[in-house]
Amino acid sequence: MTDKNTEKQRSGILRFTIKLFQIILYIPIQIIFIPFAIIGLIVGMYKEMVNSKKLGVSFSAGQALQYRWFMHYLETRPDTFSVAFTKKFPCESHFALWTIMGAFIISQRLFGFKTRLSEVAEPEEANLAAISGSRVVTFDRIMEKYAAEMEQIVLPGAGFDLIALHFTKGKQVRVFELDQANTLNLKIETMKKAGIEHDWITYIPVDYANESWVDQLFEAGFDKTKKTLFLWQSVSLYLDAGIVRETLKDMADLCVEGSVIAQDFYSEAYSSGEYSFIANRNMSLIESMGEPAKFGVDMSDDPKAAVESFLAACGLQMTEYIQFGEKLDIEPFYCIVEAEKR
Ligand SMILES: C[S@@+](CC[C@H](N)C(=O)[O-])C[C@H]1O[C@@H](n2cnc3c(N)ncnc32)[C@H](O)[C@@H]1O
Repeated sequence: MTDKNTEKQRSGILRFTIKLFQIILYIPIQIIFIPFAIIGLIVGMYKEMVNSKKLGVSFSAGQALQYRWFMHYLETRPDTFSVAFTKKFPCESHFALWTIMGAFIISQRLFGFKTRLSEVAEPEEANLAAISGSRVVTFDRIMEKYAAEMEQIVLPGAGFDLIALHFTKGKQVRVFELDQANTLNLKIETMKKAGIEHDWITYIPVDYANESWVDQLFEAGFDKTKKTLFLWQSVSLYLDAGIVRETLKDMADLCVEGSVIAQDFYSEAYSSGEYSFIANRNMSLIESMGEPAKFGVDMSDDPKAAVESFLAACGLQMTEYIQFGEKLDIEPFYCIVEAEKR
């Protein structure tokens, strides 16, 4: 027992010393980057905010792309597509991201210096700070699990996510991506400029709030008799409750046996800005860009039951429930679920 404690103490001291050296080496690198980061911040903010507005595309989708860029360079999720895409994307700056993250990236590569950004928490251990990376990886796992067995994959509100390229290239599966016209058109244009092949994916410009996405999906060749995965990542937060319900009911109607609907839900406290100051600040920025958070499930009592009954009211049976931060002593704020037609 004593030997074990001594061993533990020794490795603790070793870890602390290594970290200290890493920080000492990191600081001068960060200092060199500061003037570039100031320029990068101005360039990046301009492209993200001014160009997104000018082109009328989703700012929140650009933010999600940015996180996937970080993940690639911090080696938590390889994503050469998102990097190539960012380089040609008018609403983000590859240069700016490098100036802001460069010191971390170089320090990690040269001497293994890691911050929390360089780790991906398992969902049960993911708090608010860890949600972005953990969410991306969890949806990857879902895609990986089903890509081979499904005949169709539909991504409503796909934004600038390139997940379908990673998991469906060369597979016998039809893929449909839906989003608002400006966002989707810019996505296609940017992929062309970046030389990213995407010809097996059908892109359907649609606004769920004003048009029937189901009609458009059929027109594009969707086959109701085929087993389908619907992947609805980070979209319901930005829709009115009525549209979330209608969209889920529509998805349920399109499901044959074996079809799966995977999606995420935020809590009502989160979407109304009461959950945390930091989350609220981020949402206010997104709201100022024309995308207010609108929908959340009341997770204050029994979050699993609340989500399950919401899905049941939409004609769906919940089959998987992943509550973020479940193992931590925090208020539930986010979950990813899988469901099938009841
Ligand atoms: C936070 S982004 C998520 C994008 C993508 N799923 C991802 O994970 O990167 C939300 C997306 O929902 C789309 N969206 C929001 N309201 C919509 C609507 N009424 N019709 C179609 N798409 C919508 C936005 O254009 C945006 O691309």
